[in-house]
Amino acid sequence: MGMFERTSGAVHRGRSVIATFAAFVLIESSVLSAQTIQTFRGAQKTPHSAIATKAPWWKHAVIYEIYPRSFQDSNGDGIGDLNGITERLDYLQALGVDAIWLSPIYPSPQIDFGYDISDYENIDPQYGTLADFDRFASEANKRGIRIIMDMVMNHTSDRHPWFLESKSSRTNPKHDWYIWRDGRSGGAPPPDNPPNNWTSIFGHSAWQYEASRGQYYYHRFYIQQPDLNWRNPAVEKAMFGAVRFWLDRGVAGFRLDAIPTLFEDPKLTDAKQLPGTNAYGDANQDTSLYENLPEVHGVMRRLRTMVDKYSGQRVVIGETYLPNIAELDKWYGGAKHNELQLPMDMQVGFINKLDATVFRERISDAETKINGNQPLFVFDNHDNIRSWNRYGEGTHDELIARLLAAILFTTRCTALMYYGQELGMTTTTPERKEDVKDPIGITGWPREKGRDGERTPMQWDPSQNSGFSTATSTWLPVAPDYTTKNVKAEQDDPNSLFNWYKQLIAMRRTDPTLRDDRGRAQVPAREPVGLRSARLPEARARGREADLQAALRAVRLRRHGLEDQARAARPDRREVPVRRTPPDRELTRVQQASVSG
Ligand code: GLC
Ligand code: CA
Repeated sequence: MGMFERTSGAVHRGRSVIATFAAFVLIESSVLSAQTIQTFRGAQKTPHSAIATKAPWWKHAVIYEIYPRSFQDSNGDGIGDLNGITERLDYLQALGVDAIWLSPIYPSPQIDFGYDISDYENIDPQYGTLADFDRFASEANKRGIRIIMDMVMNHTSDRHPWFLESKSSRTNPKHDWYIWRDGRSGGAPPPDNPPNNWTSIFGHSAWQYEASRGQYYYHRFYIQQPDLNWRNPAVEKAMFGAVRFWLDRGVAGFRLDAIPTLFEDPKLTDAKQLPGTNAYGDANQDTSLYENLPEVHGVMRRLRTMVDKYSGQRVVIGETYLPNIAELDKWYGGAKHNELQLPMDMQVGFINKLDATVFRERISDAETKINGNQPLFVFDNHDNIRSWNRYGEGTHDELIARLLAAILFTTRCTALMYYGQELGMTTTTPERKEDVKDPIGITGWPREKGRDGERTPMQWDPSQNSGFSTATSTWLPVAPDYTTKNVKAEQDDPNSLFNWYKQLIAMRRTDPTLRDDRGRAQVPAREPVGLRSARLPEARARGREADLQAALRAVRLRRHGLEDQARAARPDRREVPVRRTPPDRELTRVQQASVSG
């Protein structure tokens, strides 16, 4: 199954008391909270205080994903833009962000809100101009913040000039730039005889009939996102040209969108049908004929070679939903280290239940089974229900959010976070079909309500539209909890989740044991995962023990009731039941791709 097909597994409902993991949350979070407040306040003023290390910057980085439509609107049209992000750079600097990953800001018909690109070398007027981009980049640079661009190489918009040309005839120079095929002979007439049974991640057949050629083109995503033909060297050359355009402009690197979808089985063999149906009512399919084909690794090696010719430690990140750690290792180039520096590890962040054993295994896999490459952990992005809702059980959501943050910032990984995660922003899924903006939410209603819920505007302050925009209505409504959950309120509260994030990030900067330190002894098997599996024990051992003990005693007193309850519940239950919010949405789009083997 693919990355957006979601589990229809049983809902665990929250009747049980706190279990092992929550107990661990309470105890460990408390320790850290007290510790950071006592020890690290001073460090926050210099978030970019140089880290004394020769390792490239991205090995210690906190990367912050911005969904540009939703971060800050500067011109009052209800849609976020580049000048808006520039206005908010001081905030990101104060939080301690090293790099921004910008979801696509290129010209686009906005069917998939920017992931359908019609020009790779410009800026969509909704978001600004190239001059705005340059100003944004230079202001970011002044603050020690790098820019990572989203690069969509699998497909273009159906309005891209390449596609317009390609679809115009069977003989034009770009006729083979996309995946064109005749329909199956016999059976129904076009458009109902697609070349094979493959389905789109976004629902229904992956083939669209085009009368001007009398043929079908393949689209793994929306109909308006035709897949490029990566078996044609001219496609690679053109796309690498777009990559160079941005490298020459000075960006720090790329996040490669949906990169395992680059190649398909050239024979177009029918996919094996699997039991059950997806949210769109299509039969489930084995995706191994059109996802994660080995040919993609050649492209990754050539891309890396090109990127490495640039100075300034450019980095390539991959959107890599994969079935296991061995598959992930291939995306680094394994022991050769010659593909991506940071393919995303989706094994840790999308476990979706607080199962200490599973967390332990996955973190340990990332630390030991990728040939010394650098793990990149991520809990939140613009495609999935926010971790607040995926892991929360309704009672200890904020403590759980603190624990997840602790795992993100204190394991030996590069940390990727999503705007608003630091505030505990929640998922606000539309309640009525007519309010849905993300097309999959319309095709899939009511089983799949789309991704609007995790894309609501950033919550800056308690004023109208939460300070996001002065428009009368914004492209998505601001989540109702903005009056209390916003940057302003949380900055002022030393115990807020925001300050927890800020302190953890500062602490990671100043304490190398929280991020480096390979080859340390494995954590004993029965010890809870999380901070213990990270570096806190070592930090303790190196002289802060007394402070920590004092802090722990204080916190224990304060949280007396809760902690006792947690201990009582601890003996052998391992999972905290997962509350699914909103209750009628399926848990997550992310599922490990079932690549065979
Ligand atoms: C990636 C993006 C997602 C987009 C899809 C198609 O998964 O994260 O938002 O819809 O690719 O480009
Ligand atoms: Ca493809």
